[in-house]
Amino acid sequence: MDYTSGMLKDDALKDKVIIVTGGGTGLGKSMASYFSELGAKIVICSRKMEVLEETAAEISENSGNDVLPISCDVREYGQVEEVISRSKEHFGAVHVLLNNAAGNFISPTERLSHRAFDTVIDIVLRGTYNFTLAVGKDWIANKQSGNILNIITTYSWTGSGYVVPSAASKAGVLAMTRSLAVEWAKYGIRSNAIAPGPFPTEGAWSRLLPGNLKKKFDPAIKVPVGRVGEHQELANLAAYLVSDFSAYINGEVITIDGGEWLKGAGEFNMLDQVPDELWDAMEMSRKKTGSKLKMLWLYLNGLRKIKKK
Ligand code: HXC
Ligand code: NAP
Repeated sequence: MDYTSGMLKDDALKDKVIIVTGGGTGLGKSMASYFSELGAKIVICSRKMEVLEETAAEISENSGNDVLPISCDVREYGQVEEVISRSKEHFGAVHVLLNNAAGNFISPTERLSHRAFDTVIDIVLRGTYNFTLAVGKDWIANKQSGNILNIITTYSWTGSGYVVPSAASKAGVLAMTRSLAVEWAKYGIRSNAIAPGPFPTEGAWSRLLPGNLKKKFDPAIKVPVGRVGEHQELANLAAYLVSDFSAYINGEVITIDGGEWLKGAGEFNMLDQVPDELWDAMEMSRKKTGSKLKMLWLYLNGLRKIKKK
């Protein structure tokens, strides 16, 4: 067994009703599939009904559990309320909200129109608070406990050029996660977030690494563990956080990125480009051991390797 296997015990999410926004594709689909395998009743919602219907049928066939697809633009509060009422009609209640839907693209910020900025902020930040507010009001009015999980990114706290509307929105979602974790705990509502590093999905990678960019900027290179994420390992973490096993975790953001963002942050982390020869030469110089010729050879060979990289 490893990170490509499901982690939780069978029935860990039995009869939990979970709304997954953007659940028709990518990471949302993978998380919804695993929740369903674990016995949950799933609602997936996004704009494209055909995609949702296909995904719902696929998940349901694999797990044997009911999956309800509902078309919804998360930017529209009325549509969000409709998803909640239809979910309750169909399944009797909603127990968990997974805010996963997002929109994003790369661009120098000064080239963006104000409408482009609005579009990403409206999907990511407004979409998340629309769902959070509507579900939260319903839980509080019905004296029902609940659990909210938000998918953010590591640039929610570092910021990032070229995806500024997304970074600003995700930072807002992070602030909301922590704020509500405290404010709504008295109602039995928990609020947590996951910050994934690079996980291959068609939706994200076609927009963020279009065309040749994928070849030039292989995301795995930036990850200390040397690879991108597997959907199952994210699904494992998400399943734990939406389950009752994590009842004492509240207001937390868990990063799952193989150490990627810290590699960018640490002052001297670029020294992992220094080859052994150069470290040997520096050590010989410091300890005053070995011949000068050997030291010079190591030094030049080391520099040559750095240049090649
Ligand atoms: C500049 C752009 C643009 C681009 C759209 N716009 N794409 N501007 N560069 N690449 C502008 C348009 O010109 C328009 O402004 C405005 O944005 C709205 O565009 P529409 O196409 O009408 O918007 P809409 O149909 O609502 O589609 C939303 C979308 C689209 C965000 C533009 O890409 C989408 O549907 N995305 C959903 C899925 C997604 O993005 N998944 C990736 C999530 S990845 P004007 O002024 O012309 O009217 C993610 C990962 C983060 O978040 C971390 C990775 C490590
Ligand atoms: P994805 O497949 O493109 O997922 C985005 C989903 O959001 C789609 O299913 C899309 O469906 C839905 N969506 C977009 N706009 C919507 C709207 N207005 N209303 C309702 N739904 C909408 O990309 P992904 O990579 O799986 O991303 C999932 C989440 O992970 C996002 O929050 C993203 O920021 C986060 N993330 C991803 C990565 C990564 O490497 N993949 C890294 C960090 C964080 P429709 O088009 O049908 O609406």
